[in-house]
Amino acid sequence: MDEQLIKRIERLKNDRGAVILAHNYQCGEVQDLADFSGDSLGLSIKAAETDADVIVFCGVQFMAETAAILSPEKTVLLPEKSAGCPMADMINAEQLRQLKQDHPDAIVVCYVNSTAEVKAESDYCCTSANAVEIVNSLPADKRIIFVPDRNLGQFVAERTGRDLVLWPGYCTTHVVITTDDIASARAQHPDAIVMAHPECTAPVRELADELLSTGQMLKFAARSTAKEFIVATEIGIIHALKKQNPQAEFFGATQRAICPNMKKITLDKVIGSLEDMQHKVTVPDDIRIKAKKALDRMVEILPAQ
Ligand code: 13P
Ligand code: SF4
Repeated sequence: MDEQLIKRIERLKNDRGAVILAHNYQCGEVQDLADFSGDSLGLSIKAAETDADVIVFCGVQFMAETAAILSPEKTVLLPEKSAGCPMADMINAEQLRQLKQDHPDAIVVCYVNSTAEVKAESDYCCTSANAVEIVNSLPADKRIIFVPDRNLGQFVAERTGRDLVLWPGYCTTHVVITTDDIASARAQHPDAIVMAHPECTAPVRELADELLSTGQMLKFAARSTAKEFIVATEIGIIHALKKQNPQAEFFGATQRAICPNMKKITLDKVIGSLEDMQHKVTVPDDIRIKAKKALDRMVEILPAQ
């Protein structure tokens, strides 16, 4: 990035009292520009802790909403208004209320990739980094409804031995990764460790050596003595993996694993967002207060691993 641009962004950030947070799936230059980049859990914790007046959230709608729920006194900006998450929109509050009626004694755990309205109907929130621990902490005799990601839900059910009520939601980016992709990547890089995200489908998860959130992938690669890794998740993370582990090589399982919504955020949009204070993300108080309870349980009871 050129010096002039860096200075301009620094000046804008100072003028606005802003902090820039970026998810690991953002394009490399946005990750590099951010004050903090990380996984959904790390970003939620940063959003709750920061004393900046303005949070520029380089991610998708549910992430900015989560920041707005945790820090209502702050201004939360999403640089591109239409950056949503198809999975989060696969269940709405009415559908979840119906599911709760069908299973009246169940505890509801929602993946953070959900709307504020769905969080407000849930007892606990989780991310892929702590879903297993959250479910393990719940009373063994209780039924658990897990929404909206069926793939993460199946992974949690396998790891905990719990019989979860699942919803047929899925990540449109992770489901494009196939077993053929893993097989051909392994054939090209036979010594590589395969790290896959739990949002991948069951057959892909079965072929992986490690099932990890994006933040856990970064930690795992840093600790590992392996020199090659095949990465089965959105390819934006490869930028962070390479930057933090220059001694190792990282290969995307497929270049098709791109989240088009994450990629809507560009440097220009981040600058425009700071200049015009756009696009403000807010959550109405009645929903926010209920959603915050589910998020607080996640952030306070089981912080980052
Ligand atoms: P994590 O960074 O928490 O692993 O999230 C993955 C994801 O799909 C976010 O949209
Ligand atoms: Fe949603 Fe999947 Fe994109 Fe994450 S990668 S924002 S879950 S569509």
